Amino acid sequence: MEKKEIVLSGIRPTGHLHLGNYFGAVKNFVKMQETNECYFFIADYHSLTTHPHPDNLQGNVRQVLIEYLAAGLDPEKATLYLQSDIPETAELYLFLNMNAYLGELERVTTFKEKARKQPNNVNAGLLTYPTLMAADIIIQKAHKVPVGKDQEQNLEMTRTYARRFNHMYGVDFFPIPTAYNFGEELVKIPGLDGSGKMGKSEGEGNAIFLYEDPKSIRKKIMKAVTDSGPTEMNQPKPEPIQNLFTLLKVVSKPDVVEYFEEKYNNCTIRYGDLKKQLAEDVIAFTAPFAERIKELSADNEYILKVMDQGAEKARAHALETMREVRRIIGFRKIY
Ligand code: TRP
Repeated sequence: MEKKEIVLSGIRPTGHLHLGNYFGAVKNFVKMQETNECYFFIADYHSLTTHPHPDNLQGNVRQVLIEYLAAGLDPEKATLYLQSDIPETAELYLFLNMNAYLGELERVTTFKEKARKQPNNVNAGLLTYPTLMAADIIIQKAHKVPVGKDQEQNLEMTRTYARRFNHMYGVDFFPIPTAYNFGEELVKIPGLDGSGKMGKSEGEGNAIFLYEDPKSIRKKIMKAVTDSGPTEMNQPKPEPIQNLFTLLKVVSKPDVVEYFEEKYNNCTIRYGDLKKQLAEDVIAFTAPFAERIKELSADNEYILKVMDQGAEKARAHALETMREVRRIIGFRKIY
């Protein structure tokens, strides 16, 4: 039987899941695990580029795993693991680095941005981020990598390194992975501050988190940026207002959206009413996630079991690749 195509993606262990992450990525992961052989991992090796404290590292990784599980990733359907549970990734990273060149690494946009943001910590790990990412992907021989726009260049580097390896050793060993977006319905969720997308770096009140309690959600939404209201029938919506409607569309029933559209178009809308409704619908949407996050947080045994089970599956698969890689390069068989 033809093997299913392998889908793989890495998750940065930074902070809590918000609605933007959910509708922009996680919801698709949850669907992909039904149809593909999926590998999803928490990129904890990568997080060392910013030197986290050991306690924070552990805590963040655990929290991120919990929230992704709560959001619907299923350890029975997908292989969920920590990057650092496959130390062979570091070995492959070393091999790839031997054929990665300073010039090409320095040209990567994410590197340039990070170097600008943290000028006192431009470490070699930051520079070689693309080779580590390539190792993550090709060690599982992934075909498809669901990533956002900001990761496309890194993925292009992975393609380069996979091709380079194949070419160098005259083999057709690593698949050349492609970016993958499942369906067309990726929704870009705006933030609450009137412009741009939802994100945690945009400041406190901008993002709504899945774990958040109703009181705090209400407070954030009531504070969302609006204006003094429409003055002409059917006038186009300014960005902050459009943003509230975009949120309403993902969490509310169609007749609710229609009701407020009508009120907007005939200039009788009261933004306070719109926000109250939006807050209640957001809360109804996030409440089951928040509940599940609480449950999972209290069940350490289960979380450890998920980690162990994922590590075992992911490692076995990675080891198959690495045995071949060592043989192809000319090293002795050690595992
Ligand atoms: N670089 C990705 C990000 O910043 C995370 C990541 C690490 C990743 N390794 C990966 C994504 C492998 C896809 C595949 O979001």
